[in-house]
Amino acid sequence: MSTPQSTTESTREQNGPRTALVTGAAGGIGAAVAKRLSADGIRVILADLRTDRLTPLTAGPPLAENAGGFAALEVDLTDRAALPGFVDRAWNVWGGLDILVNAAGLYPSAPLLEMRDDQWDQVMDVNLSAVFSLSRAFARRLVDAGTGGHIVNISSGASTRARRGAAHYCTSKAGLDMLTKAFALELAEHSIHVNAVSPGFIEVDSDVNPLGEAYVRSIRGGQPWPRAGVPDDIAGAVSFLCGPDSGWMTGASLSVDGGAGTGNAALPLS
Ligand SMILES: NC(=O)c1ccc[n+]([C@@H]2O[C@H](COP(=O)([O-])OP(=O)(O)OC[C@H]3O[C@@H](n4cnc5c(N)ncnc54)[C@H](O)[C@@H]3O)[C@@H](O)[C@H]2O)c1
Repeated sequence: MSTPQSTTESTREQNGPRTALVTGAAGGIGAAVAKRLSADGIRVILADLRTDRLTPLTAGPPLAENAGGFAALEVDLTDRAALPGFVDRAWNVWGGLDILVNAAGLYPSAPLLEMRDDQWDQVMDVNLSAVFSLSRAFARRLVDAGTGGHIVNISSGASTRARRGAAHYCTSKAGLDMLTKAFALELAEHSIHVNAVSPGFIEVDSDVNPLGEAYVRSIRGGQPWPRAGVPDDIAGAVSFLCGPDSGWMTGASLSVDGGAGTGNAALPLS
């Protein structure tokens, strides 16, 4: 077995800017991650079903001096057979990839007794199965190229805390946490870091994943930290996990949740 090295020691990184592929880049968290990685000097390939939403980034001015450029690719993550070819297309944009951020996700609501098989399947397909297929294709390319890299999965506090109407979602994110560990275990010898960020409730303006007002009020009420979580909170954690200060981290899930995982702040004194 070869000795794992931090990717900061990898040849690609020494030779110029790195390249990241970010799924769900038209969404609240994915777009913030893409902007943050670009500001870090990383070139970013924005991937989503809704490519029309990506134009402001691809056609806009650079976000900062020395910011990495943007490219956009359309992907339907439910089309699993097409995902290896999609990774090849992304690879060819700038002649390689270093980072994969799996940020696309669905969190629809369906009470357990009324949940249909197709509702279950769609959430599993996008939140879990696509991450497996995409990450495997990405890792195969890195191993063939002999370069290290990073996979960052956007999980959720729902991976450890069940909630009503979200059996499919919570199960998909619990699976994603284990997928993160399983990939980390097998890919360390190839210098590929695999970590997750586990957000609490993050305010996004999503028409793909609308949430009810009563739910939002209640989840905000139980959160210890007073201000709302914003997509940049997650982007900062992803930046850290792709940077030199996390060089000895793999298989971790980083909670960024305003303390929500510690307990319910809305409960009265006992
Ligand atoms: N917002 C939160 O409070 C929160 C909390 C915990 C975890 N998360 C996770 O963060 C991630 C991003 O969520 P968000 O809040 O930014 O949601 P969002 O709805 O703003 O973004 C989700 C994106 O995924 C894309 N997508 C969905 N299905 C796709 C498919 N088949 N192919 C390609 N793209 C597809 C959508 O087009 C959308 O742009 C998700 O994995 C979600 O589970 C969000």
